[in-house]
Amino acid sequence: MSMIKTIETTPYAGQKPGTSGLRKKVTEFTRVHYLENFVQAIFNMLGDCQGKRLAVGGDGRYYNRQAIQIIARMAAANGFSKLLIGRDGILSTPAMSCIIRKYGTDGGIILSASHNPGGPDADFGVKFNGANGGPAPEAVTEKIYRHTLTIDKYLTIEADEIDLERIGRSELGGMEIEIIDPVADYADLMASIFDFEKISQLLTNRRFHMCFDAMHAVTGPYARTILEEQLGAEPGTVINGAPSESFGGIHPDPNLVHARELVERMNGDAPLAFGAASDGDGDRNMVLGSGFYINPCDSLAVLAANAGLVPKYQEGLAGVARSMPTSRALDRVARVLEIPCYETPVGWKYFGNLMDADKITICGEESFGTGSSHVREKDGLWAVLFWLNIIVKSRKPARSIVREHWSQFGRDYFTRHDYEGLDAGRAGEMISRLREGVSGLPGRQAGELSIQAADDFTYTDPVDGSVSEEQGVRIFFNDGSRAVFRLSGTGTSNATLRLYCDKYETDPALLGLDTQRMLAQSLQAAGEVSNMAEFTGRTAPDVIT
Ligand code: G1P
Ligand code: ZN
Repeated sequence: MSMIKTIETTPYAGQKPGTSGLRKKVTEFTRVHYLENFVQAIFNMLGDCQGKRLAVGGDGRYYNRQAIQIIARMAAANGFSKLLIGRDGILSTPAMSCIIRKYGTDGGIILSASHNPGGPDADFGVKFNGANGGPAPEAVTEKIYRHTLTIDKYLTIEADEIDLERIGRSELGGMEIEIIDPVADYADLMASIFDFEKISQLLTNRRFHMCFDAMHAVTGPYARTILEEQLGAEPGTVINGAPSESFGGIHPDPNLVHARELVERMNGDAPLAFGAASDGDGDRNMVLGSGFYINPCDSLAVLAANAGLVPKYQEGLAGVARSMPTSRALDRVARVLEIPCYETPVGWKYFGNLMDADKITICGEESFGTGSSHVREKDGLWAVLFWLNIIVKSRKPARSIVREHWSQFGRDYFTRHDYEGLDAGRAGEMISRLREGVSGLPGRQAGELSIQAADDFTYTDPVDGSVSEEQGVRIFFNDGSRAVFRLSGTGTSNATLRLYCDKYETDPALLGLDTQRMLAQSLQAAGEVSNMAEFTGRTAPDVIT
């Protein structure tokens, strides 16, 4: 047994987990005791760690490996009996959720800042997932935060670095270390959900060509194993498949701007049949048909509507859920399927309780997140396999599947406008003003529209009754369109304002039009009500999705 060392420390301000864990610049995380304080706060939240088991892994970004070494020594000193670690320190976020559930660990620590860029001058993040495999709920992250405010010491041991490259068991200061294959358990789980035989027939068909862009991030090894090796897709189907510490210098964010190479392949002279991309830690997905962008809100609704084609969901769905700003396309499917549809605040952590209580099977967010109760995280590759399963079973291309969906259910035009790098004070003031004036908005004219209803979204968890307030200001206009304002909780510098807008159309002549044009009037009205130009000093958003 190595000597346990007690290291004195003092609290750092600002270690409050956001929408998805603690995200900061690497330069902040590498300050003396910074990471250690946060990790010890997690352990303190867990209470007595004697005999507890933990999984650890990350998206391979800069500082991933060093952080694992630090966490391992601290875990040994805190009395954990076992640490499961993905080989090379790699575990995608959904794979982590799978591992926690499969091996029944007491939780897991994910090292990732998701789609934020990586590298010595970029971002890093730490997220704690509980024994159900899902992100810690607000009550838990609050506890962790409170520990960071009073922390005065942490425990560690002096020990040699662990070898992250070799699969197998070893020992560190009395604690067992097991390095596991990061892909195998996850791949088995996927094979238990989807019709691999049918999908393999599709992927080995010479006329079907697809591309999966791993964006130099964590899904490379997963997609190569599952799509190319197990399902027989032609080699080269997975592009940018080697995880790199700086994600090849790009934002590992699967959208039309950052997945440029994929978008070119989907739109050229000989466009591929299907395209997809995932983000830094593998929980997001963007899916594309030939020359056809599929909005994540539509993708979620299409998956729910066609779930019966997937072996695992053949018996039907218990219910579905979406984050509040996500379009209401899912609600329309739920109505037809006669199943409940829940509306939660932004962030995956709110879905966990609903899944644990068997209230929902499938859920998603507009921010390229879709998932199901097979794990407690959103899951990028799962969504891609789901689409492939639907394509092969329905014998229709992705584009036709979406168009037919619109014909049946109507179309919810949706867009999100992000205003980045704003002065945090001004952006906060804008939201506060909106919030304070929200009850006076109904009846007011805004541009060409009038406001029918408005509120600041409050969520009461139907399982444990916990209440989450101030989750975004919603404005409903008289033409059925809706605008939502909220500030991002995942950024690492300044403030990002998100304006979400959606509008429902059923007229067959209005189903295939340009989204920005269809929503222009509502966006204009939203801008006017909020005095956005004045508060942000901007006339146009930085990113439109
Ligand atoms: C963003 C997305 C949200 C998602 C989160 C983590 O959070 O909007 O849907 O759950 O990233 O991937 P935000 O920056 O808006 O707080
Ligand atoms: Zn992510």
